Amino acid sequence: MRNFLSVNDVESVESIVKEALELKKDRYKFCELGRNKTLMMIFFNSSLRTRLSTQKAAMNLGMNVMVLDVNAGAWKLETERGVIMDGDKPEHLLEAIPVMASYCDVIAVRAFANFESKEDDYSEKIISQFVKHSGKPVISMEAATRHPLQSLADLITIEEYKDKPKPKVVMTWAPHPRALPQAVPNSFVEWLNATDYDFVITHPKGYDLAPEFVGDARVEYDQDVALEGADFVYAKNWSAYEGDNYGKVLSTDMSWSVTSEKMALTNNAYFMHCLPVRRNMIVSDDVIESDRSIVIPEAANREISAQIVLKKIVENL
Ligand code: CP
Repeated sequence: MRNFLSVNDVESVESIVKEALELKKDRYKFCELGRNKTLMMIFFNSSLRTRLSTQKAAMNLGMNVMVLDVNAGAWKLETERGVIMDGDKPEHLLEAIPVMASYCDVIAVRAFANFESKEDDYSEKIISQFVKHSGKPVISMEAATRHPLQSLADLITIEEYKDKPKPKVVMTWAPHPRALPQAVPNSFVEWLNATDYDFVITHPKGYDLAPEFVGDARVEYDQDVALEGADFVYAKNWSAYEGDNYGKVLSTDMSWSVTSEKMALTNNAYFMHCLPVRRNMIVSDDVIESDRSIVIPEAANREISAQIVLKKIVENL
């Protein structure tokens, strides 16, 4: 594997999930593989899980790790070419990328959508510059349109908990007070579409995701209908994608929150969310605290998804 930016960087979703589960049985088996190799993790945005799990994954492989928070303790970076740099950003990404790359073997980047331009966000303006100018393998730790380490962890988790070959997985929009990117749902859809699970997306009208991500997935605008018989409920908020509403919050309709009444419509489904989650907006206390909530093992599997990806990249250095 050279880069890990989307499901397209994986030869087979089924195989990588199987390999990840095998790795999980002995996560220190390859503790010499990364000796004298350095992972640099660059954050343009905050993180708890991605930061810790990716760092732990690299340490499991014996790698050295450096972490840079671009907006805390480093020079602010200008990302636009052609601007007169007379503002508060003293360094340009075009110098910073090759400099940072000179200190490491693998680069991992978190750079969210900023909603200023759909075109910039959907062309992955930041992370694509790392791919172009670093000369090093690049891992997405959540970019503008995708969060593949999360999706791989989600699939590993479903594989561990499913009790039938083709479970029904429902991804439901749920309310949130602020505008969130579409990266997690886009990515989840992209990865789920690469499985043969029974997959349904449900959201209020106006929240359709980009067609290139939805593909042939079934979209059901009635949440109650979608939840019927679900084996897994994957809750997530996202802001609007379409037209002039891009990046806007169109609704905080609390009837879309995942409550015990909603879960009662399912086949005793497991509840999933990538975290962080706003309780009693996205999901009620009782659902997230129930014995069917698997948000903690899901987050724990972030270490495994990062480790299998790093292993494949380091093996290819
Ligand atoms: N799920 C996830 O990516 O969590 P963080 O934003 O805390 O990294």
